[in-house]
Amino acid sequence: MSLPAQVKLVEVGPRDGLQNEKQTVPAEVKIDLIHRLQAAGLTEIEVTSFVSPKWVPQMADNAQVMAGISRQPGVRYSVLTPNLQGFEAALLTKPDEIVVFGAASEAFSQKNINCSIAQSIERFAPVVAAARAAGIYVRGAMSCTVGCPYEGDIAPERVGYLAGLMKGIGVQHVGVADTIGVGTPLKVQRAVEATLQHYDLADISGHFHDTYGQALANTLICLQMGVWQFDTSVAGLGGCPYAKGATGNVATEDVVYLLHGMGISTGINLDALIDAGQFISNFLGRPTQARAGKALLNRR
Ligand code: HMG
Ligand code: MG
Repeated sequence: MSLPAQVKLVEVGPRDGLQNEKQTVPAEVKIDLIHRLQAAGLTEIEVTSFVSPKWVPQMADNAQVMAGISRQPGVRYSVLTPNLQGFEAALLTKPDEIVVFGAASEAFSQKNINCSIAQSIERFAPVVAAARAAGIYVRGAMSCTVGCPYEGDIAPERVGYLAGLMKGIGVQHVGVADTIGVGTPLKVQRAVEATLQHYDLADISGHFHDTYGQALANTLICLQMGVWQFDTSVAGLGGCPYAKGATGNVATEDVVYLLHGMGISTGINLDALIDAGQFISNFLGRPTQARAGKALLNRR
């Protein structure tokens, strides 16, 4: 077992975290949250998505949020782009990175982006080509790599198949996502192994929702495999509107506590991160979902 000495966290709270909120979160609040996150030491922030406002109303202020953030040197800002229309709108806002998002499950692909897996790859291909021509880094999110809300268990071969398609169109990095948080460590390990047939370890990240309380265990097994990049969400916010019942991503606070406790550095100031979590939790009017965040707050 050789654990990485350093881990990079991609903060997805402003996007994955807030996309599912019923109450409108004003652009100013999102911008304030992003400023607090970068001040806490997060160097990768998934800001918003350029998707249909009819499908995801909460992200309709995408351009406003991108325009409103004060960019900090050394911080990279990413956005989701499902098709050329989204990419063209995103390009005007100068993201450092774009994310195309596909699924290992046919049914989820249909529900989430209204097309088959094969059609999604056809739509992504020109987006990837245009992004790379513009010097923008391309990440791919692979949803439902262990389980699907509509199809149940997903075989690792299907993850390998999707990873191969992503590689074929020039996607530079892929995230292995447990969209509904049903995965347990050995299943996650198999999904990562299937991805490793097409991507190097340095080009793979983990993205774990915590519905069944398995996300930290799933993170740990990935660390043991040498994976050193993870998507996490401040205060454990999150969920996908097209994955009913799924709760938030693993909380950034909890992953930072785990990593620092194991002597793995992140560059993140946990105290300042907890303050950012309190800021958004207070706005939403509910307690943080971060267990370490809550425990440390109680000790203050
Ligand atoms: P569609 O209806 O098939 O698209 O939606 P269309 O091309 O047929 O266009 C229909 C209408 O949508 C047109 O408008 C287009 O202009 C508009 P109308 O003429 O009817 O007024 N449209 C757009 N508007 C703004 N931005 C765009 C865009 N594209 C078309 N980019 C589409 C296809 C993909 C757009 C739709 O299904 C969609 O927006 N889905 C959103 C799905 C989503 O955001 N899900 C959550 C993010 S994924 C996630 O959370 C998982 C992840 O965290 C990893 C994990 O946990 O698994 C990443
Ligand atoms: Mg997600």
